[in-house]
Amino acid sequence: MTQPVWTPPHPLSLEWKGDYLALLDQRRLPAEKVVLQITTAEEVREAIVHLAVRGAPAIGIAAVYGLYLGMRNFQDGEEDAFWQELPRLVDDLNAARPTAVNLSWALKRTAAKVETLRSRSVEELKAAILAEARAIHREDAEVCRRIGEYALTLLKDGMGILTHCNAGGLATAAYGTALAPMYLAHERGWKLKVYADETRPVLQGSRLTAFELQQAGLDVTLICDNMAGAVMKEGKVQVVIVGTDRVAANGDVANKIGTYSVAVLAKAHGIPFYVAAPTSSIDLGTPTGAEIPIEERAAEEITCGFGKATAPEGVQVYNPAFDVTPAEYVTAIITENGIVDPRDKEGLRRVVLHKQTI
Ligand code: MRU
Repeated sequence: MTQPVWTPPHPLSLEWKGDYLALLDQRRLPAEKVVLQITTAEEVREAIVHLAVRGAPAIGIAAVYGLYLGMRNFQDGEEDAFWQELPRLVDDLNAARPTAVNLSWALKRTAAKVETLRSRSVEELKAAILAEARAIHREDAEVCRRIGEYALTLLKDGMGILTHCNAGGLATAAYGTALAPMYLAHERGWKLKVYADETRPVLQGSRLTAFELQQAGLDVTLICDNMAGAVMKEGKVQVVIVGTDRVAANGDVANKIGTYSVAVLAKAHGIPFYVAAPTSSIDLGTPTGAEIPIEERAAEEITCGFGKATAPEGVQVYNPAFDVTPAEYVTAIITENGIVDPRDKEGLRRVVLHKQTI
C-alpha cells in the first residue's frame, strides 16, 4: 500500500499507480492541477531538477520510484548488467539536487536493501526496489503525522504561526512536516492563524503553502518575505515553524533561502523558532552547516521568474536556493521520535537512532 493511512485534506504530491508514477506538477500550481504520468528514471530526474516535485521528503520518495522505473526493463539472466546499472542510476538520480539529504538517504537505503539480496534473480531484485519505494512512501506519511503530534504539544489554540517556503503535504507523502501540526490542530477544532511567507524567488509559500492550507480550510494569510519582521513586531506571531532540507550533526539547519533571516527576526522578537525535521533529514555525517552543499539555481528565477522581466538584461545575479540557520537560533527540532535541542549532539544522535527523548 503506498497511500497514507488516513485521508489528507490537501492534494497528494505523488502516487504510485501500479506501472507509473503520478506527480502533481507543482510548477503549475495554484493555477492548474496537472498530473504528470512518469514512466522513466530520466523523467523523474527532470521532474526533480525542474521542481515539478520538490520538498526534501517528496524528492527522496520520487527518486526511489525513479530507480525502479529505470531498472524495471532488466530481465532474469541479465544480473551482471543489472548490478552494473544500479549504482550508476543511483548516482544519476542523487545528482538531481544537492542540498536535501533525503534524496541520498532514500536512494542509499534502497540500494543497501537490494545489496542484501545479491544472489537473487533480477525479478526479485526489481520487486525489492519497488517494495522499498512503497515502504519509504508509506512511512513518510506516518512520520509526518508523528511530527505533527509532537509539534502540537508546543502550540496553543489561537496562536499566530509564521512559516516559510512549503513544508506541507505537497513536500512530503502527506500532511507535511512544519504544516502537520496545523492540520492536526484544525482537525481538533483549534483556531490557528497561519502567516505564509511568499518565499522569493520561486514562491513556494504563496503558490503551495497558501494553496494547500486554503484548500483544507485553514486560516492562512499570505505576506511578502520582507513583511515578516513587521508582522512579528505587531505581535501577530507567537511561534515560527519551518521545515528543513538537512540538519548537520551540530544542529545547524539548511532550509529554503530566507529561513535564516526569519530565524534572526524571531530571536530579536523573543519568538520561538522551531524546525520540523524527519530523522531522514538529519545528517550526522555532515559535521556543521558549513559543509552542507547549497544549490545555486538559474538567474532567471530572479530576473524573469514567471515570464516577465523584472531586472535589466545581463545584470549579475546570485541565487542560492537554501541558507543555513546556525543551531543557536533554533529553539528545538521536532522529529518523529521526539523534540530535541539542536545544540544537544547526543540528543540528535538519539532521535536518529529512534530512541524517545521526551
Ligand atoms: O526548493 P524546494 O521547494 O525543494 O525547497 C523546499 C524546502 O526548503 C522545504 O522547506 C524543505 O524541503 C522541507 S519539506 C518538508
